[in-house]
Amino acid sequence: MRDGPQLIVDCDPGHDDALALGLAHEHGNVLGITSVSGNAPLDDTTRNALGMAALLGSSAEVYRGEARPLVGEPRHAGGVHGTGGLGRVALPKHDRVISELHAVDYLIEATRKRSNVWLVPLGPLTNIARAIERDPMLASRVAGISLMGGSAGAGNVTAVAEFNIWADPEAAQIVMASGAHIRMSGLNLTRQWQSDDAIAARLKESTSVKAQVAAAILDDIHDRMESLGRGRRAALHDPCAVLAVTHPELLRFEGRHVTIETEGVYTRGMTVVDERPTPGIPEANVEVGYQIDSKSAMELLLRAFERA
Ligand code: BDR
Ligand code: CA
Repeated sequence: MRDGPQLIVDCDPGHDDALALGLAHEHGNVLGITSVSGNAPLDDTTRNALGMAALLGSSAEVYRGEARPLVGEPRHAGGVHGTGGLGRVALPKHDRVISELHAVDYLIEATRKRSNVWLVPLGPLTNIARAIERDPMLASRVAGISLMGGSAGAGNVTAVAEFNIWADPEAAQIVMASGAHIRMSGLNLTRQWQSDDAIAARLKESTSVKAQVAAAILDDIHDRMESLGRGRRAALHDPCAVLAVTHPELLRFEGRHVTIETEGVYTRGMTVVDERPTPGIPEANVEVGYQIDSKSAMELLLRAFERA
């Protein structure tokens, strides 16, 4: 078993989810990987999670999760990640299979068997919320929930909503109100850490297959960002939530009260981060990320994929 914190990575790969999985396997002890509908439909995100697990030589099983949010229809991010979640990137062939256990059952069982487990959700919070609904004690059993989602600032899908929260706001509110120890890597933080062509070029110099796949992932997302008029760079959103557990010294967090807007006509899916300086505001329930040492973070990400 690897050293490092025990992690269950809940994801919707997704270019940045795939990179986050590499980082999690390098610096954490990944117990399991659960898939959720998000960037792409569940079949796609599950296939991509399994492909990444195989590429990374992961001993963790992949568990298929929820195909729909708690309320409403599934929403995807094909404009950014392509219809299959990883654009034109083809992961190497493998012979691994998906576990027969449902992701929600796995989350409950695994956190009953072991203490000190961090959940690292990198997509909509549907699986985590379903698990908490069925077993509210899960929130206090886990070491914490380090999630990528929301923003203490501008959104991406709407002016104020970030994709993972917007895709399932009711689930996000269950998680925020659960009493769990929560670290939030929102857009205000994750936009500080961006990849570019020079990073992809460095990965291409490596002989490791993992590095070649990571370079292909970056090339593809840079092409997509460029065609969306955002330049040849991409924010490394999901890897931030892994580093928030494995290397918290690289980030600055502040305790805040966070709730999710589930009603607003213009604001549904917003993370309402209470930044008032006045006393008497509700007690902090979330450690909100405000700053990341992006240079050190990048070096860790590159080395995770360069190592054969
Ligand atoms: C988040 O949404 C997805 O597109 C990314 O994988 C990340 O988890 C950023 O808003
Ligand atoms: Ca994601």
